[in-house]
Amino acid sequence: NMTQESLKADIKALLKERKAVLLAHNYMRDEVQEIADITGDSLALSIEAAKTDAEVIVFCGVHFMAESASILAPEKTVLLPRLDAGCPMADMVSVEALKEMKAKLPGVPVVTYVNSSAAVKAESDICCTSANAVKVVQSMSEKEIIFAPDRNLGSYIARFTDKKFHLWEGYCPTHERLRPEVVKELKAANPDAPFVCHPECNPKVVELADHVCSTTGMYDYCKKSSAKRFIIGTEAGILWRLKRENPDKEFILASPALICPNMKLTSLEDVFEALQQMKPVVKVPEEIRIPAKRALDRMLAIPR
Ligand code: 13P
Ligand code: SF4
Repeated sequence: NMTQESLKADIKALLKERKAVLLAHNYMRDEVQEIADITGDSLALSIEAAKTDAEVIVFCGVHFMAESASILAPEKTVLLPRLDAGCPMADMVSVEALKEMKAKLPGVPVVTYVNSSAAVKAESDICCTSANAVKVVQSMSEKEIIFAPDRNLGSYIARFTDKKFHLWEGYCPTHERLRPEVVKELKAANPDAPFVCHPECNPKVVELADHVCSTTGMYDYCKKSSAKRFIIGTEAGILWRLKRENPDKEFILASPALICPNMKLTSLEDVFEALQQMKPVVKVPEEIRIPAKRALDRMLAIPR
């Protein structure tokens, strides 16, 4: 509609004026992805934050993602239009609890999913995303690892190595809502459609998948596949670009419950206000940023 179009134009003008870049995660609302300079998964957006020459990063995603941008690009102003956009999985691990686990397992390195706070990353040896988790774990010489906070991603990657995993009991409430019975029914009703799912899904769901990958991995897979229809097991925001890039293919969201309320918070109005007022700013203090950056840099050094 008209007001949305003029709001988009105002945002574009402000982005230019502020020398700002707009990064949006693949789960954001359609209209936010539409005006983004770059859309991507957590890994791609971290890499972009590290290399952009913009002075301001408007991060349309959730809090831990804006923190990662601040860790990697401390000289830039990082705006998170909705400061209340958090991640319940990231909140399932605290620094204190992680320290306790480390104390019980001396010498065992900690591999932490980027869906975690900066302070938790600072207590970790290396980070990973869903796109590089297998490579990260295979790059380690140790025979045992602590994997936090996603038990589902951890148990998925454990099958690609013979290392012993000490899994943290965290999970993504959005992906966990997808139940295996629902997927089985959908697969039976749509035998021509491969089931593609995110490793944050429950292992009983992952077991049923024809392909398991990060959000960006799904764009690649669905584009290259000769199938015409797909059953999609991840957050609904992914559909916008899947449909745009594959107008002749059909995408069936595995469940209407696959919506992350936090990812849906950011509106065009919020983006406009953030740029106008240059807040809320996310800035990670140096004493956390330096050790957290070490864990992120170790991850980024691993060839993709
Ligand atoms: P990816 O985009 O890295 O697959 O992340 C999924 C997710 O849940 C982000 O919050
Ligand atoms: Fe966190 Fe899950 Fe939402 Fe991603 S989809 S931000 S992991 S709650």
